[in-house]
Amino acid sequence: MIKKKKPNYKLRRKIAKITLILLIVVPIFLINQTKILNFPLYITNIKYTGIIDSLFEVDFTKKEVKDTLKYLKENERINDNTKNYILELDSMGYNKNTIEYVIKNLNKEQITEFLSKKYNKDYEKYIENDLFVFSKLERYLNYQNEHKDLSIDEIVYRIELNLDKTYYEDSEFVKNPDDITVLTNKYLEIPEDYEPEDLVDMDDNYANNSYRQLKLRKEAYEKFVEMCDDSREDGVNFYAESAYRSYEYQDILYKNYVYNNGQEEANKYAAKPGFSEHELGLAIDLANIWTITTKGEEYAWLSKNAYKYGYIIRYKEEWEDITGYAAESWHIRYVGVETATKVYKKGMSYEEYYIKYIAN
Ligand code: DAL
Ligand code: ZN
Repeated sequence: MIKKKKPNYKLRRKIAKITLILLIVVPIFLINQTKILNFPLYITNIKYTGIIDSLFEVDFTKKEVKDTLKYLKENERINDNTKNYILELDSMGYNKNTIEYVIKNLNKEQITEFLSKKYNKDYEKYIENDLFVFSKLERYLNYQNEHKDLSIDEIVYRIELNLDKTYYEDSEFVKNPDDITVLTNKYLEIPEDYEPEDLVDMDDNYANNSYRQLKLRKEAYEKFVEMCDDSREDGVNFYAESAYRSYEYQDILYKNYVYNNGQEEANKYAAKPGFSEHELGLAIDLANIWTITTKGEEYAWLSKNAYKYGYIIRYKEEWEDITGYAAESWHIRYVGVETATKVYKKGMSYEEYYIKYIAN
C-alpha cells in the first residue's frame, strides 16, 4: 500500500500569500514602469502649445514637471523664461488654466507684472471669463471693491461696458449706426450728422402725428404696424407718441428736462443729444406715455409678445445701474426678430446681451 504523502499546507499557504502579493505589486510596478519608460518618448512628442496641458494631464509630480521643463528647455522647445514662469506660477498656486493663459497670451512685461502681484484666487476666475482682458485687471478689482455683491462675470462684462467710468466721459462713437442691433448708451455716441436713410412716415393709425409727423426706419415701422394690428385683435391698444428724433430735437428735449428738473434728474430720463436710441430711428415711446405703466395691460401684452416683432423693452427697473436710466415702461427698441427673441429668452439687459453676444 502506497502511503499518501501528507500535503504541506504550510508551504501552500506561503505560496498563495506570495502569489497574492505579486498579483497586487506587479501591476502597480508595471504601470509605474510604463509611465517612467514612456516618459522621454512622451515629452518628445509634446508640442509647444500643448506643453502645459500635457504636464497637468498626466498628473506628474512636481519633480517630473521640473524634469520635463528642463528637458524641453535643453531641447530648445521652450526658453528659460517660459520654464521659470511656469514653475513660478505653479509654485504660487495658480491652476492650469491660469498658467496656460499667462504663458500663451501675455508678453514679458505683463508676465512680470502678473508675477509681482500677490496670489489671488479671484484672478483664476477672472482669467476663465470669456471677456477677460489682462490690462483691465485693476479696473475689475476696483469695481469689485465697490460692488461686493456682484459676481465675477457681472464685474467683467460691466467693465467691458465701461460702467466704471463717468457718464458721457471717454465715450466712443458707435461704428455701425445703421446696424439694427447697434448699441447706444451713455458711453457709446451716435455721430451728430447721422440720419437713417430709410426713415418712413408713420400712419396716423399707429402714431400721434398731431405735433409733428413721426418717422421710423422702414423695417422697424413695418414690424410695429404688424405688432399694433395683432395687439388690437387681442383688445390691447397702443400707438407711437415719439419715434425718430434728430440730434437737434433730442438736444431741445434734453435741455427742457434739465431746465425743469436739473441735470442729475434729467440724466435719469433723457439722453444727451448724440446718445439717444431715438436718433437711430429704432426706438418708440408709446402713448399715452404716462398710462403705459408696468401694471397696465399694454405693458403685460408687450412683455409677452414684443420680441416676436423684433422689439425689446429697453429700460427696466432691475437694469437701472446698467442702462443708467430709470425704468421706462413706454420705451421700446427694435433690434430685429432674431436678436429680440434671444434677448427675451436670456432675460438680459440689452447692454449685457450686446457685450456678450454681439460685440464679442
Ligand atoms: N428716454 C430715453 C433714454 C432717451 O432719451 O433716449
Ligand atoms: Zn424713448
